[in-house]
Amino acid sequence: MIYYFSATGNSKHVANRLAEALNESVTPVLEVLNLGIKVDDRMILVYPNYCGGVPSVIREFLQKNIFQISKDAKLILVITYGNNTGASSSIATKYFKKNTGRTFDAMYSVKMPDNWTPVFDLTNAEEVAETNAKADEEIDGIIRKIKIGVDGDHVGDKLGKFMEVVYPGFYKTLSKTSHLHVEDTCIGCGLCAKNCPVNAIEMKDGKPTWTKKNCAMCLGCLHRCPKFAIQYDDKTKDHGQYLHPDS
Ligand SMILES: Cc1cc2nc3c(=O)[nH]c(=O)nc-3n(C[C@H](O)[C@H](O)[C@H](O)COP(=O)(O)O)c2cc1C
Ligand code: SF4
Ligand code: SF4
Repeated sequence: MIYYFSATGNSKHVANRLAEALNESVTPVLEVLNLGIKVDDRMILVYPNYCGGVPSVIREFLQKNIFQISKDAKLILVITYGNNTGASSSIATKYFKKNTGRTFDAMYSVKMPDNWTPVFDLTNAEEVAETNAKADEEIDGIIRKIKIGVDGDHVGDKLGKFMEVVYPGFYKTLSKTSHLHVEDTCIGCGLCAKNCPVNAIEMKDGKPTWTKKNCAMCLGCLHRCPKFAIQYDDKTKDHGQYLHPDS
């Protein structure tokens, strides 16, 4: 079974490609957070790196008492990222080991367009397509390795142990919903509220309002809004919206 979390489609694309090549089923992590997970043969987890660590949804998944894993099961982690993987693999491993006593047998990463548009500019469609084409080659390599049963840590572009210390505070600050606001171009369609993975948005008087102090800060609401009406401070307007072409 392949589990994934994805806001703009990168990790979902990886999960789907692995599923097709390895004849596995795919399930969003959000659908199993309150169910039991029995792993007899293989579990692959695919998620995006956030702040050198893991998205809050993945932290919850890795820490939940829902796993029943057989002794011989193969556990594989695949992290998507834009520029560096920080300490994401070691943080995920720490949470999972504390919860289940198990570590991942194989860990991989795939470099993809960086959807953190408060910093990165994704308006150059050619550059974005090139990055996605290179990512597909990386995914081909991962599929080959998984098929022949290669184990070990193959995560690239790490930022060292200090990111393990920096990640919690960095993510907490950056994920304050006070960073998000809606512009007058909003047409009140409600898609942002409907699709928020942590139910942090409510529609009031035809406009989204953020009801929690912090959210996962996946930027799904910003990138998927049909009017590009949601912005993060004054940092995102010129950097475009992004969705993986297969999403
Ligand atoms: C809140 C947040 C923090 C992120 N932090 C990092 C980071 O520290 N390093 C990095 O390389 N990419 C970072 N990214 C980029 C994503 O990891 C990358 O674009 C990922 O492929 C998005 O996956 P998705 O399309 O499945 O949501 C961040 C994205 C978000 C939304
Ligand atoms: S998705 Fe965009 S247009 Fe639709 S309600 Fe949300 S902010 Fe408004
Ligand atoms: S409010 Fe927006 S950025 Fe925050 S978790 Fe929901 S969809 Fe993601």
